[in-house]
Order: sequence, then structure tokens, then C-alpha cells
Amino acid sequence: MAEDAVVPTQAPGLAQSPFLRACRRQDVPHTPVWFMRQAGRSLPEYLRVREGIPMLEACARPDLIAEITMQPVRRYAVDAAIFFSDIVVPLKAIGIDLDIKPGVGPVIADPIRDAAGVKAVRELTPDDVPYITEAVGALVGELGGTPLIGFAGAPFTLAAYLIEGGPSKNHEHTKALMYGHPELWHELMDRLADLTVAFLKVQVAAGASAVQVFDSWVGAVAPQDYRESVLPHTSRIFEEVAGLGVPRIHFGVGTGELLGLMGEAGADVVGVDWRVPLDEAARRVPPGKALQGNLDPALLFAPWDVVRRRAQDVLDRGRTAEGHVFNLGHGVPPSADPDMLARLADFVHEASAR
Ligand code: CP3
Repeated sequence: MAEDAVVPTQAPGLAQSPFLRACRRQDVPHTPVWFMRQAGRSLPEYLRVREGIPMLEACARPDLIAEITMQPVRRYAVDAAIFFSDIVVPLKAIGIDLDIKPGVGPVIADPIRDAAGVKAVRELTPDDVPYITEAVGALVGELGGTPLIGFAGAPFTLAAYLIEGGPSKNHEHTKALMYGHPELWHELMDRLADLTVAFLKVQVAAGASAVQVFDSWVGAVAPQDYRESVLPHTSRIFEEVAGLGVPRIHFGVGTGELLGLMGEAGADVVGVDWRVPLDEAARRVPPGKALQGNLDPALLFAPWDVVRRRAQDVLDRGRTAEGHVFNLGHGVPPSADPDMLARLADFVHEASAR
């Protein structure tokens, strides 16, 4: 699709970035590393700039987005920045009444349970999120040769919040719609897939040089249901952003049994949580994929000797994959010690130097 062939203005040297090269399964001077949720509550400088400003307000202010995105890049030797926002920002931007409650997460005022609710998920245009375009544009200038990862939530995870009305353990309402009203389910997933594609396109058009799709809660779904009720939609997302020419990462939690199907969905990189060793994950995903992961975030609270040994193990197993981006198996816990992350990023570079 010609109109999709956005070629962002790329800083010189970006093509040589170890992160982008590893995503493309090319040789790297060292294993690249970044941390999911590296921007946020584990940093005192984050807590300072966020003081008195609600999360969703911060996500709509280009100056704060840029500052918070840069904070971990200043502190850690990470090979990529991740755009500061949230997976529910595009939902808010199309008029869904929701909030992010501290210590809870996204909360939806009127959970979606019927056809009228599904219709409320309308299309997103760049005019709905001018602050995203502005913030990404400012950031790519400031980041220079460090790539910026844009991101969005995947349809299942967004649907889970919209249908449950907030965080959920068992996703009972979500599955009730999926099993009981497949037509309505697919219409909702279709609309959410459109939203995800539109949100990613805005970020890449403004200069993001990779994208990650977070399907955090899809591990609740059995493989046969993933194939029938989720895969057609995630596949379409990766197909529709393929023309943007940036690496595509696909991550979920508790997805050991889904890694093969997630690979089939079409991303370039499959993110792995800490439950499946990377050499085993490499056997589960189809050929032609890089892997991202997967140190248990809880290890950040262990003594450094233990962290170092386990990080070395992740590197060793990661070598069996066609490409490896070091990361945690899920996000940085809010109470993690930033010095531990600084040490870990340095260790990954030193221990993997070719
Ligand atoms: O550093 C980064 O990774 C970039 C920023 C980022 C945030 N949310 C900021 C945030 C990213 C990539 C996300 C994605 C996100 N949001 C996901 C997928 C990643 C994952 O962890 O699985 C999910 C499921 C959400 C939904 C969400 N938003 C949750 C579960 C929470 C935490 C609730 C809490 O307070 O415990 C949020 C809020 C949120 N998003 C915060 C941040 C920094 C905390 C808000 C605050 O500082 O008060």
C-alpha cells in the first residue's frame, strides 16, 4: 500500500543501532537492552515531574512526554527509548470515558457489553492525538542515534479493559462475549485493531523507529481460542504496519503456550515473559523471528551476584535465537532500585561484547 510507505526522517547512524539490527536478525556489536516500563515510577525524577499531575493529563502534554521518555535514557545505557504514554490513551482520545487510577490501572466508566458499546469504538485520526505527533517529533530530534519505540495495546488486552471495566483476574465478562457473542466480539476486535494500527501509524509517521504491540493479558486465552478469536486481528495489525518499514515487536505475559501462534501473527520480534527459557522459546516460534526478553523482574530484588548469573543465563540462551534483544520478562516494578537497572544494562553490554 503506497500511502502506508511512510519513511520517517531518520537520524544518521540509526540504521546501525544495535537494537534495530537485532530486531532485523543482523550482526550486532553487543546484545541490545531496554526495559519495559523503564520510564515511570521506579525513578525519583519521574515522581518529581508527575507530582500533582494525573497520569492521563501527563500523557497529553508533549513537554512531559518528552521529559519522562528521556529520563531512563539519561540514567541507563539502554539501546532504545520507549515512548511515554499508555495503552488506553487512544481509547480516551476517541471519547471513551476512562481514567487511570494510581495503584489500580485503567478504569472504564461504562464497560462495553453490547452492540451500542461496541459502536463507541470509533476510528482514530492524527487530529485526535496532536500531542503524540508533537512529542514524538521533539523526541526523535533529542534522541539522535537512539531509536524510539512506539507502542499500542493489542485488541484482546484493550477489549479486556473495556469489557471488564478495569483490571481483572479471570476475564469472565470478556470471555463471555468472546464465547457467547462471536459476531459482536469480532466487530469489537476489528474496531480495536483499526485503533491500534492508527495509533502506531501516528507514532511512526512522527519518527518512531520500531513499534511494540502489548497483548499483556492474552495469556488467559487457550491456543484454540487464540487462533479463532484473536489471531485474525493481531495478524491484520502486523500486516497493516508492515509497510511502515520499522521492526514490529509482539509481547504478552503468560504466553508460553501461545508463542508459536504469536509468531504466526507476523511480528519481527516475539517478546517472551520469564516463564519460558529463551532457547525453548526459540523452538516454539517459527523461523525468521528475533526474541526479546526475559529476565524475571523479581530478580531485581536479589543480590547482584544472583542477578548477574541469571542475566548471563538469559544471554547464553538468547544466543540460540536468530536475534536477541535483552529485556525483563515484564515491566520494571515500581519499587525496583534504579541502580540495579543501571548495573544490569552495563553488564549486558560487557558480557555480550563481540
Ligand atoms: O516505560 C514505559 O514502558 C513507557 C510507558 C508505559 C506506560 N504504560 C506508563 C504507565 C507503557 C509502555 C505502558 C503500557 C501499559 N499500560 C500496559 C502494557 C504493558 C504491561 O505492563 O503489560 C498495560 C497493561 C497498561 C495499563 C496500565 N496503565 C496499568 C496496568 C497501569 C499501572 C497501574 C498502577 O498504578 O499500578 C497503568 C498506569 C501507568 N502506565 C503508569 C505508568 C508510568 C503508572 C501511573 C502513575 O505513575 O501513577
